[in-house]
Amino acid sequence: QSAKVATNFVPTKADYQKVYNRIAEVIDDAGDYDNGSFGPVVLRLAWHASGTYDKATGTGGSNYATMRFQPESLHGANAGLHVAREVMEKIKQEFSWISYGDLWTLAGVAAVQEMAGPKVPWRPGRIDGFESHSPPDGRLPDASQGAPHIRDIFYRMGFDDQEIVALCGAHALGRCHTDRSGYDGPWTFSPTMFTNDYYKLLFDEKWVWRKWNGPKQLEDKKTKSLMMLPTDYVLTQDKSFKKYAKAYADDVDLFFKDFSAAFAKLLELGVPTQQFVASEAWIMQTVDEQKS
Ligand code: HEM
Repeated sequence: QSAKVATNFVPTKADYQKVYNRIAEVIDDAGDYDNGSFGPVVLRLAWHASGTYDKATGTGGSNYATMRFQPESLHGANAGLHVAREVMEKIKQEFSWISYGDLWTLAGVAAVQEMAGPKVPWRPGRIDGFESHSPPDGRLPDASQGAPHIRDIFYRMGFDDQEIVALCGAHALGRCHTDRSGYDGPWTFSPTMFTNDYYKLLFDEKWVWRKWNGPKQLEDKKTKSLMMLPTDYVLTQDKSFKKYAKAYADDVDLFFKDFSAAFAKLLELGVPTQQFVASEAWIMQTVDEQKS
């Protein structure tokens, strides 16, 4: 009779840094895919895995990585995220001790930091759950809606107006795909660089409704190469949202500070405090920092 092999491996911060480094490598190794980077789609995975949280019932959030299961993987809002989950699966095979929730959220942190964004405090502790932990459909925002919907969705997670506006600045990165959301195009001219260009463009460009067969979206009048979703444009129309959007357009340091805090909070939604390994979140080093 063979005894079960005892695996009392307790990963340290250095072990998680190794995973971070591997994530950084893999998101950069994207070939012809979207400007040669999986960074934006991996960031979107971290957000959609966390943004299902409902503070009233304590359900949803990043704890159980339930997007591994159907039907959540097939929810309309998650269209295209199989790309990010498949990229992450490679890393999971190499570091089998990490939970999916920790892996996906750490990847969100690595994506932001490696694309020249702010440092985002992060700590491990999420556990792999079961299909029965899955949140219902409809918890993520619908891009065709207005300010009341945005508030309903984000207040349910426990965010306020300032945090909502800061989080949406992630749309400096990546693009919309017609075969995923139906929308089309990037928000900024540098979709693999974390900047406050999203807010600057919102105020500096003239935005007009695009004439096309797809869903209602805006395009910049000058170049017609950038886009805004109806929910992005609302940040310049709603009085309270506008105040913060303007502040972030004018002050990149303020944006970085507020994004970091709100994103760190997002990534911990739904994780019971006692599950966290460290009492304070860690700052993972960028690949560049480790070179010097
Ligand atoms: C992409 C909607 C908030 C990060 C997208 C797409 C839509 C969308 C429709 C395009 C998906 C595709 O076709 O590939 C929204 C709405 C939001 C919101 C309605 C809130 C009102 C956020 C937040 C984050 C985020 C809070 C992160 C903190 C991203 C990123 C992409 C993206 C990085 C690009 C993905 C890629 O390039 O593949 N979002 N989003 N979004 N979103 Fe959001």
